[in-house]
Amino acid sequence: MKEILTPVIFLTYTGVLFFPCSGHRIERSTSCAQKYQVIPNHSACLQKTAIATDSGISDEDKNVIVSKHNEYRSVVNPPAVAMAKMSWDDEIAMIAQKYADACKGLVHDGGRQRSIPGRFSVGQNLASASYDLDWAGVIKLWYDEVKDFTLGGNNDLMKVGHYTQVVWATSIKIGCGFAVCGSTRSYVCNYGPGGNLDINNPYESGSACSKCPNSCDNNLCDCQGKACENGGTMDFNACACTCKPPTTTYVGPSCQLNCTGQKDRSYICGPQFTPAMCDRFTNVPQDCPTMCKVCPYAGIGFAAPDGGQEPVKSNTRLSILTTMIVLISFRLIF
Ligand SMILES: *[C@@H]1O[C@H](CO)[C@@H](O)[C@H](O)[C@H]1NC(C)=O
Ligand SMILES: *[C@@H]1O[C@H](CO)[C@@H](O)[C@H](O)[C@H]1NC(C)=O
Repeated sequence: MKEILTPVIFLTYTGVLFFPCSGHRIERSTSCAQKYQVIPNHSACLQKTAIATDSGISDEDKNVIVSKHNEYRSVVNPPAVAMAKMSWDDEIAMIAQKYADACKGLVHDGGRQRSIPGRFSVGQNLASASYDLDWAGVIKLWYDEVKDFTLGGNNDLMKVGHYTQVVWATSIKIGCGFAVCGSTRSYVCNYGPGGNLDINNPYESGSACSKCPNSCDNNLCDCQGKACENGGTMDFNACACTCKPPTTTYVGPSCQLNCTGQKDRSYICGPQFTPAMCDRFTNVPQDCPTMCKVCPYAGIGFAAPDGGQEPVKSNTRLSILTTMIVLISFRLIF
């Protein structure tokens, strides 16, 4: 078990005034699905700050983000035996966007706070700029850390952590968010399933695509957007998942979580360990879905009282108003 370490990138050290975001005053909102509400401070439940403007990502930029990542993934040197072709994921992107709108600057949210309960843990790259940097430029900055990287070497996480996330072989899904926060632009990309653990070995080297000849497209294993959830492992040649046991808990072609009759079986879920483990270790929510409240809320077919759906997004004006009310009520309380 390893903790996920997530570095930040500082584009500007001096001469830039970072707007003092009211991040620590953000209230949890109930405008998020119940599976997120049960996780303390989940980013999906953050409210948009009043200073966040111009938020969101155009379809054009989504294409740039995905294709730039795939371009860099296809040219890794030495080549990769099985480098997954990335595709966009709306749920990952929704959480990244909520986090961008919270205007936290270059501070990462917690691994648990950005994870997707019942699907997978999620990695993250951040960037912040005082000028209008386009997405291709942001991803290039992350990729350019390649100059300090040696595959299998003894790399410095703070120097190469963004690069290793960009080329993490099994992170097959990406979703990003963007907001202008006062005078700062905030870029958030989240990656699932999360990885970036052994940063010296983001992928296995060998002849390109040699472990996925059947799905190979331009040096990438193209499984048409399919991902394995809940710790399932992908056979990138067959594009098929091998789910973790027990077979009644992780079911179907993508290893969806079945909470019916679920009991935590692993020794790490016992009373000798505490639910705090759910926050610290990415495998614990998978292995102990009941202790970590992933079950029943993220199980297949779970019906929340409100249907468990994301409510229709309120318009910007309304959410600004809501944030102001929250801030005023804080003033009254403190
Ligand atoms: C949630 O956020 C609040 C306010 O930032 C903090 O005091 C609290 O410790 C957080 N709880 C968890 C479980 O992260
Ligand atoms: C979910 O688990 C229950 C109890 O173990 C089992 O009866 C049921 O068949 C499972 N559902 C699926 C879709 O596998």
